[in-house]
Amino acid sequence: MKIGICNDHAGVDYKNRLSEYLTGKGHEMVNFGTDTTDSMDYTDVAHPLASAVESGEVGLGIAFCGTGNGMAMTLNKHKGIRAGLAWSEEIGVLVKQHNNANVLVMPARFIPFEEVLKITDAWLDTEFEGGRHLKRINKIPQE
Ligand code: RB5
Repeated sequence: MKIGICNDHAGVDYKNRLSEYLTGKGHEMVNFGTDTTDSMDYTDVAHPLASAVESGEVGLGIAFCGTGNGMAMTLNKHKGIRAGLAWSEEIGVLVKQHNNANVLVMPARFIPFEEVLKITDAWLDTEFEGGRHLKRINKIPQE
């Protein structure tokens, strides 16, 4: 799977470590994030990642900022994006099973890296359930 990943200054370390882990599992990682800890605006990397997911340049996306909220808010402005914020393994499952999140967002300053691995594996390994959840996600986009 080709996976786009982005981060602001709060997520550089987790972006690097997760990219290495996923590359080791055979995924192709495309980096849209900053590579320094200099303060920057998450919007400047979230929009390019969202566009890459929408165009199909990458199959899925992963994003980190301090709380995850700035990334999620920005990504979800794009019609083709369902960015889900996850902070536990169970939410990593549910955000795919129920919401079919095509971008996984995690709060780099509030969860240990071991949790990042568990959440990411859960999200990647879980299938969207469809059915009533398909009806609901189809009602998300607004003009
Ligand atoms: C940066 O200090 C922080 O505001 C940012 O990483 C994120 O948490 C915003 O939602």
